[in-house]
Amino acid sequence: MKAPGKQMELKDNLFNRALFGDDFKWGVSTAAYQIEGGHDAHGKGPSVWDVFTAKSGAIPSGHHGNTACDFYNTYPQDIAVLKELGIPNFRFSLSWSRIIPAGTGEVNEHGIDFYNRVIDTCLANGIEPWVTLYHWDLPHELDLKGGWANREVVEWFKEFVQVCAKAFGDRVKYWMVMNEPMVFTGAGYFLGLHAPGKKGLNNFLPAVHHAVLAMAEGGRTLRSLLPDAQIGTTFSCSHIEPYTSGRKDVVAARRVDALLNRLFIEPILGMGYPEEDLPVAKKLKKYMKPGDSGLMQFDFDFIGIQNYTREIVKHSIFVPYLNAVLVKAENRKVPLTAMGWEIYPPAIYHMLKKYAEYENMPKLYITENGVAFPDTAVGGKVNDPERIHYIKSHLRQVLRAKEEGVDVQGYFVWTLLDNFEWAEGYHPRFGLVHVDFETQQRIIKSSGHWYKAFLNG
Ligand code: BGC
Repeated sequence: MKAPGKQMELKDNLFNRALFGDDFKWGVSTAAYQIEGGHDAHGKGPSVWDVFTAKSGAIPSGHHGNTACDFYNTYPQDIAVLKELGIPNFRFSLSWSRIIPAGTGEVNEHGIDFYNRVIDTCLANGIEPWVTLYHWDLPHELDLKGGWANREVVEWFKEFVQVCAKAFGDRVKYWMVMNEPMVFTGAGYFLGLHAPGKKGLNNFLPAVHHAVLAMAEGGRTLRSLLPDAQIGTTFSCSHIEPYTSGRKDVVAARRVDALLNRLFIEPILGMGYPEEDLPVAKKLKKYMKPGDSGLMQFDFDFIGIQNYTREIVKHSIFVPYLNAVLVKAENRKVPLTAMGWEIYPPAIYHMLKKYAEYENMPKLYITENGVAFPDTAVGGKVNDPERIHYIKSHLRQVLRAKEEGVDVQGYFVWTLLDNFEWAEGYHPRFGLVHVDFETQQRIIKSSGHWYKAFLNG
């Protein structure tokens, strides 16, 4: 164990926002499919998530996002809550098929109008909108043409980015091209657990390469249309440790680290795919065309890091290509979240340090960090001290990295509202605000009140 940084000794009442500096950005993050609902409202086309969740058995609980938190209708009240809590930055994503129902071609003015209203309501309340262009809800029509496994997706995505930049670029200064490409390609194109439910390397590898190309192309498109915008993209990352110090576990951990933490950022930084530590990445060559190495790169203004936990990795001969398995947190006698993830705050410190080590790494923001617990409402109140503790202990680790020189300039809690947690449905509650999904009633949890006090303290 490393020696704790000096802020670790700070008493609770001295741990405050000012320690992070005046320019540090504080916010909350959300995603369109998880909160909006309005799945077929006013000309919206279906996305892969609308279609996937309608398939019997695709999501174990049978839940779907047809209504979700009804943010499509409740956005004025929800933005009022942001204001009440004093949260200055709001990250949300745009639903591609709400804006371009078939993914390419005709634009749905009602979709543009909805996001105009969301952006304008934020600005009228002194809240800075941070827009993610793609948070996993590919238009279904594009999936029928192969989705992310079809190279044409790069052009379709570029068209979507152009439409959004032209519609919203006069007011939106902060853009994130993609959310966690590793998760939507891994869970959606290899494991089949997320939409569109595809499996195997023949889906996964082309999806990876096209997501890298689209991310870079999205960055170039934004930069050419909005030269003054701050342009970023976001990556999931988990701190990886080997189960033992034996060579096989160490090498297995390196492979998993290359897959989960390096596969997307390294080509973007101009380093190519991490083939040496992840031999299966050599198969990506099959999908590369001349000139792609250059097209995979883009000089982002910032990188968003999204961290929730750490993983322990063991060598295994039963997992093809990777020869590694994750040792489940539930078998490790460690504190767990409602997702079954280990609560391990130093993970976020290690990830910040790891990303900061890359040459040419731009400034970093923590664009997601948060936790799910069961959170029940009792007498109109939701008391969630474990979430307050989780966020505080992670913030201490962010500060530790910052004090050691990492250029981290912001922190966004995942998330504002309890919402549709993908394959897990509505059970895991990640919000600072409790949602009763029957009545759509909101209750600010004690963690929401704590965040307010912290931000205003
Ligand atoms: C995603 C969110 C998700 C959260 C918690 C991130 O991987 O960006 O959409 O809800 O983690 O699982």
